[in-house]
Amino acid sequence: MSGIRDAHARSLEDPEGFWGEAAEEVHWFRRWDRVLDDSRAPFVRWFPGATLNTAYNALDRHVEAGRGEQAALIYDSPVAGVTATFTYAELLDRVARTAGGLAALGVEKGDRVLIYMPMVPESVIAMLACARIGAVHSVVFGGFASQELAKRIDDACPKLVLAASCGIEPGRVVAYKPLLDGAIAASHAPPERCVVLQRPQARAALDPRRDLDWVEAFDGAAPAACVELAATDPLYILYTSGTTGVPKGVVRDHGGHAVALCWSLRNVYGVAPGDVFWAASDIGWVVGHSYIVYAPLLHGCTTVLYEGKPVGTPDAAAFWRVAEEHRVNVLFTAPTALRAIKREDPDAELPKRHDLSAFRTLFLAGERADPDTVVWSQRALGVPVIDHWWQTETGWPMAANCLGIEALPVKPGSPTLPVPGYDVRILDEDGRELGAGETGHVVVRLPLPPGCMPTLWENDAGFVSSYLERFPGFYQTGDAGHIDEDGYLWIMSRTDDIINVAGHRLSTGRLEEVLAGHPDVAECAVFGAADALKGQAPIGLLVLKAGCDSAPEAVVRQVVARVREQVGPVAAFKKACIVERLPKTRSGKVLRGVMQRMADGEPFAVPATIDDPAILDEILEALRGLGLAGGS
Ligand code: COA
Ligand code: AMP
Repeated sequence: MSGIRDAHARSLEDPEGFWGEAAEEVHWFRRWDRVLDDSRAPFVRWFPGATLNTAYNALDRHVEAGRGEQAALIYDSPVAGVTATFTYAELLDRVARTAGGLAALGVEKGDRVLIYMPMVPESVIAMLACARIGAVHSVVFGGFASQELAKRIDDACPKLVLAASCGIEPGRVVAYKPLLDGAIAASHAPPERCVVLQRPQARAALDPRRDLDWVEAFDGAAPAACVELAATDPLYILYTSGTTGVPKGVVRDHGGHAVALCWSLRNVYGVAPGDVFWAASDIGWVVGHSYIVYAPLLHGCTTVLYEGKPVGTPDAAAFWRVAEEHRVNVLFTAPTALRAIKREDPDAELPKRHDLSAFRTLFLAGERADPDTVVWSQRALGVPVIDHWWQTETGWPMAANCLGIEALPVKPGSPTLPVPGYDVRILDEDGRELGAGETGHVVVRLPLPPGCMPTLWENDAGFVSSYLERFPGFYQTGDAGHIDEDGYLWIMSRTDDIINVAGHRLSTGRLEEVLAGHPDVAECAVFGAADALKGQAPIGLLVLKAGCDSAPEAVVRQVVARVREQVGPVAAFKKACIVERLPKTRSGKVLRGVMQRMADGEPFAVPATIDDPAILDEILEALRGLGLAGGS
């Protein structure tokens, strides 16, 4: 058997041969003219000339091949008190009818459909129904507030919005419809129609001029056939935080995506058709798109859709209960979920009470997997714990221990080696390549492999300026790290103003925008401080306008509420305080990095360019008051 290093080398030396072979796993209506077209580099197209349908590959072909009675989707919701299983035949029927209902509402190939829904089967059905007729879906995470939703509506200009009446968080029902109505009212590109799934926990008031009931619109609809789509047609847009307040619309194509996801499930995750794969994430994130919905179904697996939390629904044994009940073979989650479980069950007593004999591997991603969590999980579960690294932009892992090819020794804290297709390099500020052990910008030599974003939605210039301009010939990941002498990659931090809170990516620029919108705030800075549970937590420092007579505590309370209202609860913005001034360089740049190191109690160098070093004492005091920088 050839090893991972050989596979990696071959993927870079002969990408067309490598991915052409991988593409044999996908059903094509028409084969490609070329595997890779880079004649318009840096814009590249995978499998031009080919046609396929992603939903056909995810459902119809498995039913035709005799998997009709196999479970395709297991819905497990401790918060709704419901468990339901859909076979491939049943899921196909629901998807085809929903696709027919979308078509009857005038949705055509290329139209955008925005999905603002929680973790219910109808969300998965809606995504696949769009794929079936060539509509481009854009799922918005339920934890985002109206303003964030409005920005995404304005950018995607959806013809239709699909929503649920509510989501269910532990201890509270989140009514989605008022948030949606608010977003549509604020939007410059309101959709023609909204179709609303009424959940019994909170029914929504429908506006008869615009809103339709889900059951009426879809359940009786005539099934729609699969539309033949170009490999290069867009399947979806997924918005992610950039460094500014404007989210980036990451585009995914049909062909490269199907090829990369099938390949990854077999080769990275070591999963075979028929296995039970559970990604404990949310369909609003890329992990949910790739590994709850598309990859497991494309590969003929059973996927688990879990509407609950790792703790509190009802307890820290929830993951092990689900794994036992549904005979889960592979679980994928974020390290923060394991930290939450570990906090409640430090001696790992709970996994022992469950039959985890089917459970083979735990995969972690979404944030840096700290070695403590990796080691604790290995001991608690007695299975390999595999950290792997990727981003919304790539859609599938850039670095991993590829269990389907060759299992390498785990080094806790490293996601192991670059995955085939990704030529990962470390560059210094001037774009010079660094050697083993030297920390710098983590970049990927172009072209990116199939499945990675071909561009940003209707924003080719933004794609180039955000990712390709800084280091010509390379894709800039925005992460910093190094490669060690064994070729293992270590991802240590971001190089930009993005922070990672509980595996969710947040823009500090966006949070600052909201704080600065408070009438009493003259200046502000947001940075991420280490948090034992969530990895990082956002911290806000505020300078009040001269002559402001509001009580400082009131302003802090108000900005915390503003972030929740304008960005959403998922920002988890809880800590802020007032300071006299912000530390800056003489040219006026706010020293966020210095404040972050102070907050984390790490040594920091006072920059020679600092305007007024004395200010740091005041900042230290303020951070201590927030329980940071060694304060209690
Ligand atoms: N709709 C509405 N609100 C939501 C939401 C949703 N879909 N998802 C989260 N929220 C809310 C939460 O209720 C919480 O509100 P609160 O401030 O009233 O408590 C807030 O957003 C922050 O959520 P979260 O960061 O998830 O924290 P938590 O305290 O609820 O849970 C963990 C902590 C660690 C259990 C949780 O973060 C977790 O399971 N994370 C997994 C991360 C993950 O799946 N990442 C995806 C990438 S793989
Ligand atoms: P997102 O696009 O929201 O999935 O966030 C991607 C970012 O999360 C990456 O650019 C990293 O900063 C971080 N990240 C994801 N997985 C890992 C990992 N395994 N190790 C370190 N950082 C990670």
